[in-house]
Amino acid sequence: MNAAEGGDYRIGFGEDAHGLAVGRALWLGGHSVPEAPRGAIAHSDGDALLHALSDAVLSAFALGDIGIHFPPGEPETADMDSRVILRHCLGLVAQKAPTARLVNATAVVTLDAPRLGPHRDAITASCAEFLGLAPGRFGLTFKTSEGLAPDHVQVRASVLFELRR
Ligand code: C5P
Ligand code: MG
Repeated sequence: MNAAEGGDYRIGFGEDAHGLAVGRALWLGGHSVPEAPRGAIAHSDGDALLHALSDAVLSAFALGDIGIHFPPGEPETADMDSRVILRHCLGLVAQKAPTARLVNATAVVTLDAPRLGPHRDAITASCAEFLGLAPGRFGLTFKTSEGLAPDHVQVRASVLFELRR
């Protein structure tokens, strides 16, 4: 079944941005980038890629956003491992739409430094595993801000679900 044949699909889109500070680890997709001079300033581990993917997953089924389910500033979410957030969001989808199957996901990471190319395979493998996708179904794009936002990491992510009959 494909869209042209009348399948039932849900697209989701998410976005996240964090300021960068020295002394913080940079987490992207559950993978740490050890040579990063700065990491995300955040109440949780600041993994902007997992946050954007989690919001994309929720948005596909009109389930709100991660701030509703994991209020920032609450003691329970301090230094939270963002893999827990993504797992919870996928669980909410499974509850609301038991026949939903993730078809593919994509993300664009905007970061000026360091170069992320050497981490592409590891970040892809990590995200694909958390999403239950083959690595070939997770598209990962890296962009610099061309110096326009040197103190931020920003991620946009999209997901596509199919509802099986
Ligand atoms: O943003 P820009 O077009 O200058 O990116 C050019 C290349 O640099 C892309 O191939 C991208 O994968 C890579 N890149 C990277 N690490 C970043 C930003 C961009 O490897 N932090
Ligand atoms: Mg975040």
